[in-house]
Amino acid sequence: MTAAHEHLLIIDFGSQVTRLIARRLRELNVYCEIHPCQNVTDAFLAEFAPRAVIFSGGPDCVTREGAPRPPASVYDLGVPILGICYGQQVMMQDLGGRVEGGRISGGGMAEFGRAFVKPEGTLDLLKGWFRDGHEQVWMSHRDHVTALAPGFKVYGTSSNAPYAITADTTRHFYAVQFHPEVHHTPHGALLYRNFVNLAGFSGDWTMGAYRDRAIAAIRKQVGDARVICGLSGGIDSSVTALLLHAAIGDRLTCVFVDHGLLRQGEAEEVVTMFRETYSMPLVHADESALFLAALDGQSDPETKRKIIGKLFIDVFRKHAAEAGDAEFLAQGTLYPDVVESVSFSGGPSVTIKSHHNVGGLPEKMGLKLVEPLRGLFKDEVRVLGRKLGLPQGFIGRHPFPGPGLAIRCVGKITRPKLEILRTADAIYIDQIRRHGLYDEIWQAFAAILPVRAVGVMGDGRTYDYICTLRAVTSTDGMTADYYPFSHAFISETATRIINEVPGINRVTYDITSKPPGTIEYE
Ligand code: XMP
Repeated sequence: MTAAHEHLLIIDFGSQVTRLIARRLRELNVYCEIHPCQNVTDAFLAEFAPRAVIFSGGPDCVTREGAPRPPASVYDLGVPILGICYGQQVMMQDLGGRVEGGRISGGGMAEFGRAFVKPEGTLDLLKGWFRDGHEQVWMSHRDHVTALAPGFKVYGTSSNAPYAITADTTRHFYAVQFHPEVHHTPHGALLYRNFVNLAGFSGDWTMGAYRDRAIAAIRKQVGDARVICGLSGGIDSSVTALLLHAAIGDRLTCVFVDHGLLRQGEAEEVVTMFRETYSMPLVHADESALFLAALDGQSDPETKRKIIGKLFIDVFRKHAAEAGDAEFLAQGTLYPDVVESVSFSGGPSVTIKSHHNVGGLPEKMGLKLVEPLRGLFKDEVRVLGRKLGLPQGFIGRHPFPGPGLAIRCVGKITRPKLEILRTADAIYIDQIRRHGLYDEIWQAFAAILPVRAVGVMGDGRTYDYICTLRAVTSTDGMTADYYPFSHAFISETATRIINEVPGINRVTYDITSKPPGTIEYE
């Protein structure tokens, strides 16, 4: 936390969409942090000294004994507060209004989904907001306010929510029943803009400022010590390495582990750029023989992932030890990971896939962590990467999973299959680039299915692998839709792959969304 710039506090009551509030604010160049309600104490508020506060939504009932509530001192800070959904209810209840659950006669009722709000009077928060005399909003609540706290007035209503928008304009407390941060409140960003304007934010949160502060903070944290960084060539680890390098120069050593499961030309590209363009000390650990031997004969997805995860840690430790006595490990942890790990409701979710990353390394190696991207979202990391001079080819790259081609070579992995896969994948990506589609797609790749099919090429019979192509759109990888290529594109690409890649005689295009599929095959 730093007081060097204006910042806003989001008190999280456990809503699924709290992170979107932070997104909307970052888009307005306002620095904000999300903190779960239970961590927000009087002392915390005094130290954080926010310029404004937002209460998120949440799944609880404010009328329930023990439901989360902010400390009373938040209302005495003298700063504007915006309460959303549960945040509205908690504010009303705390300040002397009334909240009730479910359906009640003559009042309001539970409401889920699209609703339309009409204005009542004028309010600075709503400046320019109502178009056509009403505005679409997204409601998701069972409880609702049935009596306003003293000092509050109604400024907007919907058919089921007589207190859709309320405010105490003297204290600058605003409380809305709906969720302005979600996509289904199409004009919601304007409410946040109005809110930060009336709170006096100048919008000083820029990536240039972030870079300078991050570099200063790294120098302060690390002192004269050495740092190691696992470099994968992905945007997060690349930007982390560049920041560290800018801060401490040669006291940073990057370790690039080549597990033999990378895409065509990838290892050379990453190593050349970091060594030559940035003159960064970089250990290129070619451990493909080790990984491929350990994976030999393995076909179970989880077994493959576990083998790769464990070997990665062993190899990283070995090369890091050789690189000198590092005291710190640099990691490209992003803000969503941080927020998730302090998630309000907690509770481990079902393991669909064991993701491979360097988690667990610091404890095993007795290292302290440096995480300069902890405050950023993915798209902000891209902007920062540009500021640090990372070439566009790296910045716009599709995500690539830690276990690499192992989880795209479905079933048993062999060197010949990996080679076929690399060539097919390179042609597919080349096609996508030639057609100018790369940046429209979240992730695209080829995979090889563990079956062979009969075909006829020339006058002969073939018995070769089936290549499946995947391309999805997504915003965060959590859900995804298949990309609607034209038939002409698919047919041209399939023809190229079959003609140019010996070992493949069929190409399919995967039209499964996530859910029910996942993006990768294993
Ligand atoms: P799934 O297949 O779970 O993938 O729908 C969602 C996103 O995560 C990437 N992915 C991984 N990334 N280590 C990573 O660093 C992994 O083990 C891993 N598995 C999947 C995947 O490429 C997609 O972007």
